[in-house]
Amino acid sequence: MNITLIVAMDSNRGIGFQNTIPWMGKITADMEHFRKKTTGHPVIMGRNTYLSIGRALPNRANIVLSNLLSFMTTDAQIVHSFPEALELAMTKPGSEKIFVIGGAQVYNVALPYANQVIITFVDGQFEADTYFPKINMNEWSTESEEHTQVDEKNLFPLRFLTLKRKTAF
Ligand SMILES: NC(=O)c1ccc[n+]([C@@H]2O[C@H](COP(=O)([O-])OP(=O)(O)OC[C@H]3O[C@@H](n4cnc5c(N)ncnc54)[C@H](OP(=O)(O)O)[C@@H]3O)[C@@H](O)[C@H]2O)c1
Repeated sequence: MNITLIVAMDSNRGIGFQNTIPWMGKITADMEHFRKKTTGHPVIMGRNTYLSIGRALPNRANIVLSNLLSFMTTDAQIVHSFPEALELAMTKPGSEKIFVIGGAQVYNVALPYANQVIITFVDGQFEADTYFPKINMNEWSTESEEHTQVDEKNLFPLRFLTLKRKTAF
């Protein structure tokens, strides 16, 4: 099973502020990168991230984690543990690659299961209240790296990095 965490973070590992993205609307290239990578695959997210987006992402099976038995949606499926989320994701189209799309609580739970992490580093420091967990780089190798320049739709330089978990052998 391929479990990929996909995240955009700033220089301090900040990923969110007041249940939104700190650089919302200022980095079009990252939104396009996220759409291209995840479309056609199941996406797993926490309830806060689902509420922050405000709807299910199109052309992807949306799986939302919540402890609340009362939480319901019409456009996503609710599960109550990460193993349950994986089990459900495996039944969905595109399940050869399952994406975990945040937020911080769910990245923390999912990181030990992940064999790939796709990071967009936003070159800047933003006000944040949620952070991506620290990654032990001894356990990961860089699969690819790409840089983008600032333009009128992308107000900060970006670095797209794909990390692959090192295997034991
Ligand atoms: N920069 C990025 O790439 C990125 C990506 C995604 C999100 N974000 C940002 O991150 C912030 C949200 O992150 P967050 O950490 O506050 O929330 P979150 O991880 O999106 O959601 C947390 C909620 O998910 C549920 N949950 C989490 N783990 C669970 C588990 N193991 N079992 C059952 N339920 C579980 C709980 O819901 P209940 O309370 O219902 O029990 C919990 O309160 C926002 O600011 C958002 O914009 C940034």
